[in-house]
Amino acid sequence: MAQLARLTQRPWQQTPEDWEIRAELEAGLTAQDAVISPKYLYDPLGSKLFEAICELPEYYPTRTEAEIFAAHAGDIAAAVGAGVTLIDLGAGNCAKAARLFPALKPRQYVPIDISAEFLHQAADGLRQAFPEIPVNEVAMDFSSSLELPATVNRDRRLFFYPGSSLGNFDPGQALDFLRRMRQALQIGEAGGVLLGLDLVKDARVLDAAYDDALGVTAAFNLNMLNHVNRLIGADFNARDWRHLGFYNAARQRVEMHLEARRDLIVRWDGARRTFRQGERIHTENSHKFTPEDILSLLEQAGFGEARMWFDPQRWFAVCHARAR
Ligand code: AVI
Repeated sequence: MAQLARLTQRPWQQTPEDWEIRAELEAGLTAQDAVISPKYLYDPLGSKLFEAICELPEYYPTRTEAEIFAAHAGDIAAAVGAGVTLIDLGAGNCAKAARLFPALKPRQYVPIDISAEFLHQAADGLRQAFPEIPVNEVAMDFSSSLELPATVNRDRRLFFYPGSSLGNFDPGQALDFLRRMRQALQIGEAGGVLLGLDLVKDARVLDAAYDDALGVTAAFNLNMLNHVNRLIGADFNARDWRHLGFYNAARQRVEMHLEARRDLIVRWDGARRTFRQGERIHTENSHKFTPEDILSLLEQAGFGEARMWFDPQRWFAVCHARAR
């Protein structure tokens, strides 16, 4: 929040990082096809709205992934092997990883997240609940670098990336990110990845999951406009915009957009953008995978010996693969 406040301060009070955020947002807003990066969905209210989405009857991924982990815990632990350094990317409240502790018995747990305060609190809770497991949290933006501090064991690293967050990258970026994970595992070392990935399915199920009856996903998407207002002093009015969330089968992805309800002008810091009624801002892609896509992605990134576990409807997959 401190950083958000700074962005609306005077130019000489802003850091290079603030300028980067401003430049990125301006470039997206003034592009012919306007776009705002999905990372701006997650201000404090956005993070709470995402937690609420995970509770919705229509949003099956979180629940289905938890069912797969519960049903196959022993098998997954056998594939992963004993005593890994469990590196949790985007750990949040660390709850997903903590549920795996009894089966995996990691020799070190490394939760990584960008929001430092929340992470330290969650890590303290885990140290109390599991005194036998060393917990070394790292507050960093892992999307730009996977260089880990010396406190993180180098051997038997397991990157845990659940929730189909890999699907929020474009395919090329997803491959780059997996390659960076591979590079952070030493050659000849028994390291690997444990991923949760959402699968291609009936468009009606996907449409409902990203456009729920209560409008929680709509609020999550629209809240991004308030966040952008605070970041660059823009004058978006969320009431002027409509949430769209739908499956684009040709591109194998759910897309979220915000659509202007009327002709309007958005202004910020001496700049402006005119939107015609019906014009859209693209705010998120959530790619869906086939098991073959997952195997090919892992193979290209330098992983082998892949194993997958599914729910009975084959809506979601948990996948383990080893660095080769
Ligand atoms: C975080 N991520 C995996 C979610 C998804 O399903 O792509 C974000 C989300 N967007 C709308 N609903 C949930």
